[in-house]
Amino acid sequence: MNQPHGPDHLIVNPDIEEYIESFPALGDEVRREMESYARENGFPIIGPAVGRLLYQLTLISGAEEIIELGSGFGYSAYWFGKALSVLGRGRVVFTDASSENAALAEEYLSRAGFMDRVEIRVGDAAAILDAEKGPFDIIFNDVDKEEYPPLVGKAYAKLRKGGLFITDNILWHGRVLSEDDSPATLGVREFTRLLYSEPGFYSTVLPVRDGVSISLKL
Ligand SMILES: C[S@@+](CC[C@H](N)C(=O)[O-])C[C@H]1O[C@@H](n2cnc3c(N)ncnc32)[C@H](O)[C@@H]1O
Repeated sequence: MNQPHGPDHLIVNPDIEEYIESFPALGDEVRREMESYARENGFPIIGPAVGRLLYQLTLISGAEEIIELGSGFGYSAYWFGKALSVLGRGRVVFTDASSENAALAEEYLSRAGFMDRVEIRVGDAAAILDAEKGPFDIIFNDVDKEEYPPLVGKAYAKLRKGGLFITDNILWHGRVLSEDDSPATLGVREFTRLLYSEPGFYSTVLPVRDGVSISLKL
C-alpha cells in the first residue's frame, strides 16, 4: 500500500509501521477496502498512519476549506471527508489527472457517505489550485514528486493566514540523503529547501511513514 521501496533507507522500522497500523479503526469498512485495493494494485496511498494525522489536523484546526493536490482514487480524501463529516461543515476539493481514479473515488466516497463534502475535479492539480479563489484552510500535496517545487509558492498564495500546507513523501524513502539524482528525488529536495526558505511558512517534518511536512502560514 505504500510507495514502492527501492534499495533505500527505511524511514520507520517496517515492524514498527506494521505494529502501528495493526490497530483496527472501528466501522471503517470502506477504508479497509480502499487499503486492499491499493495493496492489490500497487497504488501508492498515504496509508492509515498519515490518514489519521490528516484527520486529526482537520479536527484540531477546524478546517472547512480543503484542497488536495493528487488525490488518487480518494483514500486521502476519505480521511478529510470523514473529519468534515464530524465537523458537519466544509468541503474538500479532490484533484487528479486521471478520470478513472476520479470515478473510483466517487464510488468509494459515496459508499462511505462523504460525497456531500467532496468536490471532484479532473485535471492538472496546480492549474486547478491556481483557478481556485481560496483561501484554503488546508492544502494537501501528494502529486508526482518532480512537480513539487513550484507548489511552495502556489500553496502559499492560496492559504489563509494560520492555514496548513501538508506534503507527503517529504523524506522519499531516504533517497533525499542519497546520491540519487532522479527528477523525483531532486524535486523533493528542492521543494524542502524552498519550504524552509519561505519566511512566511513555519515548517516541521514528521517522520511518519515516508515523512510528512506540516507548514503553518504565518
Ligand atoms: C501518490 S498518488 C495520490 C494518493 C492519494 N493522495 C492518497 O493517498 O490516497 C498521486 C496521484 O497524483 C496524481 N497526479 C500526479 N501528478 C498530478 C498532477 N500534476 N495533477 C493532477 N494529478 C496528478 C496521479 O494521477 C496519482 O493518482
